[in-house]
Amino acid sequence: MRILAIETSCDETAVAILEGSGTFPNLSFHILGNALLSQAQKHAEFGGVFPNLAKREHAATIVPLIEDALKQAGLLSEENHPVALPEGLFAHEPGLTEQMTAFLSRTAIPEIDAVAVTAGPGLEPALWVGINAAKALGVAWNLPVLPQNHMEGHFLSALIQNDKIENIELPVLGLLISGGHTEFVAMKEWLSYQTIGETVDDAVGEAFDKTARLLGLPYPGGPQISKLAEAARAENLQSPFSLPRPMQKSGDLRFSFSGLKTAVLYTVQKIETLTDELKKLLALEFENAVGDVLRDKTRKALEDTGARAFLIGGGVAANTHIRRILTELIQTEFPDTKLYMPHPKDTGDNAVMIAQAALVSLMSGQQPKGGDIRANGNLGF
Ligand code: KG4
Ligand code: ZN
Repeated sequence: MRILAIETSCDETAVAILEGSGTFPNLSFHILGNALLSQAQKHAEFGGVFPNLAKREHAATIVPLIEDALKQAGLLSEENHPVALPEGLFAHEPGLTEQMTAFLSRTAIPEIDAVAVTAGPGLEPALWVGINAAKALGVAWNLPVLPQNHMEGHFLSALIQNDKIENIELPVLGLLISGGHTEFVAMKEWLSYQTIGETVDDAVGEAFDKTARLLGLPYPGGPQISKLAEAARAENLQSPFSLPRPMQKSGDLRFSFSGLKTAVLYTVQKIETLTDELKKLLALEFENAVGDVLRDKTRKALEDTGARAFLIGGGVAANTHIRRILTELIQTEFPDTKLYMPHPKDTGDNAVMIAQAALVSLMSGQQPKGGDIRANGNLGF
């Protein structure tokens, strides 16, 4: 089964074409095409993602990315194929009707079984670009269009190692950590998800980004903080700062990160000259605080669920310190639990994970959701 997937929930525009094979749940995935363009540099001057800029950039790049993914997959061939898209489909994306019509009208219908698209959670103006593009492909190629949950993409991509899902024991516990989410998700039965704990305020990625901003580091701040903190560890530095570990001892699976960011603010305000050395020491203490909270909450979640497998997913799952301490936790305290971590390069937003999620649900025999697809910024599990 072959899927073309589109992801535009935040600041990455991505299109991937995947082929799935095997018998559920032992599936294999072959990436035929993978085109991705990050807008992060464009948002950096605003210090964060600016939704309308994201939408404009998605609209400017989605058609060339679809074309690129098809070309990589060897599925692009020229053919006169006049297409009339439904009126008003791109009412909010000026210029896209002409661009999409022109592209589709000179392109042969590719051998693909379905189109998948992220319907949420994410920035709604950004999501709509992908959804409308997917609908255009669905009309022109007479294919079903399947709405996907972005966080399910992060969850499943962690379970796919070396392009395969193999011998996974249930229940699975996932810790999803990204710019917009921080949550524990339990999967007791395949593809049945339950959020069992989440942040009451900021997401952990947001705390990284805001802290980076307070330290005068560019967006996205996570990798910047991580680099400084790792440098401090390599030099064996001890941080003179002391930041809170919010809700570490709350005895439940809730998180809170806004107080940590505020504590960084107060600390920075007290510093006369924020030297590179002090930034390094503050980054170290910040990352240690986040790591301590994630480790202790994960221990509790593993105890509560009796999970046989544990995974991390989302952009923050690229973080070296977090990967290290969670690996240590599993090795020392939960040796019978299998740990799944996506390769750091696969932790950020991409369309491969959206195609994988669509393939897993289709190949498991799940009925595709019917009805009109709408962007849902707060889509949950
Ligand atoms: O999953 P993602 O690409 O987008 C969302 O769905 O939000 O996650 C982006 C977040 C940003 O907050 C970014 O700063 C953070 O992931 N991030 C990191 C690292 N790499 C990306 N945070 C900490 N350490 C990293 N190495
Ligand atoms: Zn994401």
